[in-house]
Formats: sequence, C-alpha cells, structure tokens
Amino acid sequence: MDNKKILILGGSGFIGNAIYKELCKYFDTYGTYCHAANSYSTNNQFVHYNLEEDDIVEVLELVKPQVIISALRGNFSALIIAHEHILEYVRKENCQLYFISSANVFDAYSKYPSYEMDKTLSESIYGRLKIRIENMLFRLPKEKMAILRIPMVFGNSSPRIRDMKKAIIENEPIEVFPNLILNVTNDDKVTQQIHYLINRNKTGIYHLGSNDLTHHEDFIKEVLERVGNFNPIIKRVYTTNEDRYLAVLPKTNQLPKNLQFTFQDIIDHHVLN
Ligand SMILES: NC(=O)c1ccc[n+]([C@@H]2O[C@H](COP(=O)([O-])OP(=O)(O)OC[C@H]3O[C@@H](n4cnc5c(N)ncnc54)[C@H](OP(=O)(O)O)[C@@H]3O)[C@@H](O)[C@H]2O)c1
Repeated sequence: MDNKKILILGGSGFIGNAIYKELCKYFDTYGTYCHAANSYSTNNQFVHYNLEEDDIVEVLELVKPQVIISALRGNFSALIIAHEHILEYVRKENCQLYFISSANVFDAYSKYPSYEMDKTLSESIYGRLKIRIENMLFRLPKEKMAILRIPMVFGNSSPRIRDMKKAIIENEPIEVFPNLILNVTNDDKVTQQIHYLINRNKTGIYHLGSNDLTHHEDFIKEVLERVGNFNPIIKRVYTTNEDRYLAVLPKTNQLPKNLQFTFQDIIDHHVLN
C-alpha cells in the first residue's frame, strides 16, 4: 500500500464513495459524510463534516491528508468559504487538491465541445460556482492542484439511472433533450481515471469523459433498452431550436489508451439487474 493519505470530501456521495471504494484498497483513504450518518458513523475511516456548521480546517488537521479530493455538494456560499480554507491549508502543507468540476463551466458555449485550455463561461448558477472555485485553484502552484471536469455520470447505481427506473415503475415520463449533444461517463471509468492521476501524481486540468459525442435522446433511449424491457414514457424537452453542446473532450492532457472510452462503452456497461 502506498503511504499517501487521501481525504475525500463528500466520501458518502455517489462519486465520492465510488472513488473511496477504488482507492481504499491501495491508499490510506478517509472520507467525510454529512447526512448519511447511518452508514458511516461507525466507520473509523469516515469523519462527520457539515460545511454549513463545521470548520473544514479541523477535519484537515485531524486527518492530515497529502491528497484532498473535493466531491461535495451543498450551499454555494458555504462551498466557496470551505474551499478558501482548503486552499490555505494546501498552500502551507505538503498537500494537493483534486477538485471535481463539471462540463457546466462551459454551458454558455453551445456551438462546440470544449477542451482543457478553453476559456470557461457559464450561464447557470451551478456552472458559475464551479468556475469560481476553479479560479481559486489556479492561484495555487500547478503541482498542487488538479481540476477534473466531468460530464453527466451514469452507471447502474447512479442517481440518474435510479431515477429513470423509479419513473418507469411509477409510470412517470423520462425527460430527454433532443438538441443536446454531450459526452458521458460512469462511476467505474471516472474512478479508474482518478486513481491513475493520483498514482502518477498528475496535476493540471483533465476532461474525464468519453472521447466521442452522442445526442442525449439517443443515448438515454439506448441505456433504457439495456435497463429493462419496458415501454417508458419519453418526454422530449426542447430548450433551444438548434443543437447545443455540453461536452468536455480531452486534447492537451490525454490519458493512456486503456483509460479512454466511448459513449458506447458506457451504454454497454448498463445491464439488467
Ligand atoms: N453526478 C454527476 O453527474 C456529476 C457530474 C459532474 C460533476 N459532478 C460533481 O461531483 C461532485 C459529487 O457529485 P455527486 O453526484 O456524487 O453528489 P452527491 O451524491 O449528492 O454527493 C454529495 C456529497 O456531498 C455531501 N454533502 C451534502 N451536503 C453537505 C453539507 N451540508 N456539508 C458537507 N457535506 C455535504 C454529501 O454527504 P451526505 O450524503 O452524507 O449528506 C455527499 O457526500 C459534485 O461536486 C458535483 O458537482 C457530478
């Protein structure tokens, strides 16, 4: 086992927990939880942390991580303050910060997919929050930070697939966006990629999605076929008249071939269960 100590903020969440499960076999890995107390309060590797009430520095000084992975959701202003404090800690200690960002940092650009070095611009509050925290990270020395931009995350256990199954059972419509062109990932792919980045001490900006693009409607329909032999109600939602891209493709910082994948790999990963 590598002696690197890793702390996953949001270790009880969908992405944070997938990363925890992947890394804990190889590194001394810790996580935080907030509302999910039942499953984590008796696990010694997990620390309770509520970003609206607690000081993150206390958690950091308790765990003393060399790598922090930020996979939190929560109140936007509390998230900004927490990241200010995390950055202060990272700057003065022997520590790196991996921040889970989103394709939404480019959601104001609808005509093309986006690459690592493109300028960010967002029309959404969520995208602007991610940009704000990314910009804070850019003030760290480059070897201390990584920005991981992630597109929509699927997978059998993902909230997105769970919600679709629930909609089918309850005879509710599933929304698709026929004009939306995107790339995608799943929990397995993203955690393997993050494992590689941490192992190789890689820093900078990474776009962690499929190498190719798909229409949201086509993709969801194919995934639904894998998930079960149902007749789901599909609701087509048009947000614009023209095609709109929400895609983060890799160009400058490519991962090795065995960690690259296509949207079809993500579809094929969905199985009946
Ligand atoms: N899922 C996607 O498709 C996707 C795509 C791109 C980027 N991302 C980014 O990836 C990150 C993780 O997303 P996710 O989908 O894994 O979210 P999630 O399942 O909702 O997990 C969020 C995590 O934040 C914790 N949390 C919530 N409120 C908190 C609070 N007040 N104080 C402290 N911790 C709190 C949760 O803890 P409890 O559950 O214990 O309360 C959980 O560990 C987010 O930053 C998100 O923007 C997600």
